[in-house]
Amino acid sequence: MNDYLRLGVNIDHVATIRNARGGEHPDPVKAAQLAAAAGADTVTAHLREDRRHIFDKDIIRLRNEIDIPLNLEMAATEEMLKIALLYIPHAACIVPEKREERTTEGGLNIIGNYNYLEKFVKNLSNKDIRVSMFIEPEHDQIDAAKKLGAPVIELHTGKYCNATGQIEKDRELKKIILSAKYATDIGLECHAGHGLGFDTVQPIARIQEICELNIGHFLIGESIFSGLEQAILRIRSLMKNARENL
Ligand code: PXP
Repeated sequence: MNDYLRLGVNIDHVATIRNARGGEHPDPVKAAQLAAAAGADTVTAHLREDRRHIFDKDIIRLRNEIDIPLNLEMAATEEMLKIALLYIPHAACIVPEKREERTTEGGLNIIGNYNYLEKFVKNLSNKDIRVSMFIEPEHDQIDAAKKLGAPVIELHTGKYCNATGQIEKDRELKKIILSAKYATDIGLECHAGHGLGFDTVQPIARIQEICELNIGHFLIGESIFSGLEQAILRIRSLMKNARENL
């Protein structure tokens, strides 16, 4: 069980805003530094094949200019593997990636791509990069991640966050609760993320087997109204209260 729940702040969408106009403003690295100062434990950035938000130069600067660990989200491609092995982030989260999607829509299908994914886990782990697999809360995908030798899984919380009725929300939450328990029982570290915000974070934060949440879009959006520091302080306080009042 984990008393402390880490917060990873995903700064991709600071780059989305920057790229809408070109130029350098707003700077995702400055956002990462502010996030660290506000209490983020890690910073996450997704270098997509189409470079729609984070650029290669951002990864280099994040590697050199922030004091907290960098979690690189990456598709399982030769290009991304080369980049990860060049810049050696603290952690790499392997995600599925489709050009036409607006965001990472679902988890990885490890079972269907076991042989292909094996070399990514091996090559990254050999360089001491902590590998996590972004998967749906399903036991067979968790088993496959374990068999692959990945030390960490990140459970996709998108279906839970997007659920409209209470019955569907409860059903999706239950899957996450059972999956987090199962994953830690078989020796995996369990993280969660996608779509989380002030209204959805607490039931996930209450799951003691989960030790890290990765949150991006909501925090960056909210920072338009309250500033990034306030948005992070508020989510942190919700996470802490949920954890302390189980
Ligand atoms: N975790 C993973 C693996 C993701 O791909 C993303 C989205 O980039 C997130 C967490 C954060 O999701 P959101 O931006 O919806 O908070």
